[in-house]
Amino acid sequence: MDDKIKALNERLQQAYLGGGEARIERQHKNKKLTARERIAYLLDNGSFEEIGALVTHRTKDFGMSDQQYYGDGVVTGYGTVDGRLVYVFAQDFTVFGGSLSETHAEKICKIMDLAMKVGAPVIGLNDSGGARIQEGVRSLGGYADIFYRNVMASGVIPQISAIMGPCAGGAVYSPAMTDFTIMVQDTSYMFVTGPNVVKTVTNEEVTSEELGGASTHSSKSGVAHVTSTNDVAGLEDVKRLLSYLPQNNKEKPKDLPYKLADEIRGSLSSIVPDNPNKPYDMHEVIEGIIDKDSFYEIHKDFAENIIVGFARLGGKSIGIVANQPMFLAGVLDVNSSTKAARFVRFCDAFNIPLLVLEDVPGFLPGTDQEWNGIIVHGAKLLYAFSEATVPRVTVITRKAYGGAYDVMNSKHIGADMNFAWPSAEIAVMGAKGAAEIIFKREIKEADDPEAKWKEKEAEYAEKFANPYRAARRGFIDEVILPKDTRRKLIKAFAMLEDKDTKLPEKKHGNIPL
Ligand code: HXC
Repeated sequence: MDDKIKALNERLQQAYLGGGEARIERQHKNKKLTARERIAYLLDNGSFEEIGALVTHRTKDFGMSDQQYYGDGVVTGYGTVDGRLVYVFAQDFTVFGGSLSETHAEKICKIMDLAMKVGAPVIGLNDSGGARIQEGVRSLGGYADIFYRNVMASGVIPQISAIMGPCAGGAVYSPAMTDFTIMVQDTSYMFVTGPNVVKTVTNEEVTSEELGGASTHSSKSGVAHVTSTNDVAGLEDVKRLLSYLPQNNKEKPKDLPYKLADEIRGSLSSIVPDNPNKPYDMHEVIEGIIDKDSFYEIHKDFAENIIVGFARLGGKSIGIVANQPMFLAGVLDVNSSTKAARFVRFCDAFNIPLLVLEDVPGFLPGTDQEWNGIIVHGAKLLYAFSEATVPRVTVITRKAYGGAYDVMNSKHIGADMNFAWPSAEIAVMGAKGAAEIIFKREIKEADDPEAKWKEKEAEYAEKFANPYRAARRGFIDEVILPKDTRRKLIKAFAMLEDKDTKLPEKKHGNIPL
């Protein structure tokens, strides 16, 4: 064999092995796949083309010139998922703990730049000890180069981060600026300052898992959109998520083949209980409307009083935002407002039509909510819906009370088609509270105030606890039977397919952050 080719093969072998076989073994022992195994699992068979396999770092300090590994701790390139082009980087923990050097950052930036030129998603598989300590400010600069590109790419190409190991310090801000963060249970964590610093500064004793593990970020902070049981499940989640998305903001998501058939769904008729104060699971309504098994929930364990996720309806990708009466009666609060607002903005940026299922008794009262800024956070959802130009359809299944009626994709803020089930109640507030306020004197002066209150409550409910007043004013386009909902929605979204609305010209709006 030609010596040159032999040398190249040896180099490629070294690049393939990263930090060596012992370190690969350690990675496996820690229940993690290697960077290359992750890429191989994620991409279609044989589709990966590596870029920069022979790159090495330029550091001479701390004896680093003697420690050179091809690839410098990150595997980068492109390939396909389900036949569609994606760019991918996978940090290689077997090389300097996957830490980010100047050259490591350059490799990531290179594929991000290509992805922007071509218009295809970027997927980051993160497993890193953070900034390469031996490089000082050069590695910090490398992070900032990536952050800048994350922001430039935001709303142009989908960006997905899978956290499959440590992700600490400023490194967390790249995933935070991508569209979705998927965390693997038990083997990944994210925090700005680790347990040791926390102990020094606040005297709190906390483990890495408690501070920034997958369950913490999926239920407490909302930093993680999805949690996966292991690396393979995490990579499956990336693939599933991609299946609902277009390649970029100029395209629409790919339709799956679907033939219209009998779209009547009798099961929807018995979900909403007769008693308006009894909860029900909005997931059942979602399942009754969408194509079978097509719901992919985002932020499943965070702010469970609102449900958001992707689904298919007649083969088309849609985003769903739905109040969940099972939790806090489906009220809007700080967390549910920000959760839904972010999802609405993502769908709008990437041409994914929005379906809203509404059963909301209002905003959550209390000092906790007010002091934590429910005014500003609630406004985010109002803002997000108002500026969304994708097709927007609402179905009111039961309550649509107060300001929450306006916020939850009402016609007044630009929704295209609004339906209500006969069980809908559209009013300023619930009948009991309303009667207490507007019939205060009559109730007080009555021989039997309790009976009077009940009578007035019934009177108010009779007038307002239905969808017909709103329909008479045109705020509701049609009162529909639950069983017809799927058929009506398929037709409404098909009718709206070519919707073309432009926002007034501006640099950007000023969403209440
Ligand atoms: C250089 C690093 C490194 C780093 C790990 N390594 N982190 N090398 N720079 N940041 C090396 C280790 O020296 C070791 O090399 C190998 O990677 C594996 O690390 P271990 O410590 O043996 O692994 P483990 O026990 O699993 O612990 C992983 C870890 C720990 C928890 C990530 O390595 C760690 O705490 N690293 C430092 C984390 C950190 O403080 N990073 C800087 C954060 S600040 P050998 O050769 O011994 O096997 C930051 C700022 C970013 O990132 C700012 C952006 C704006």
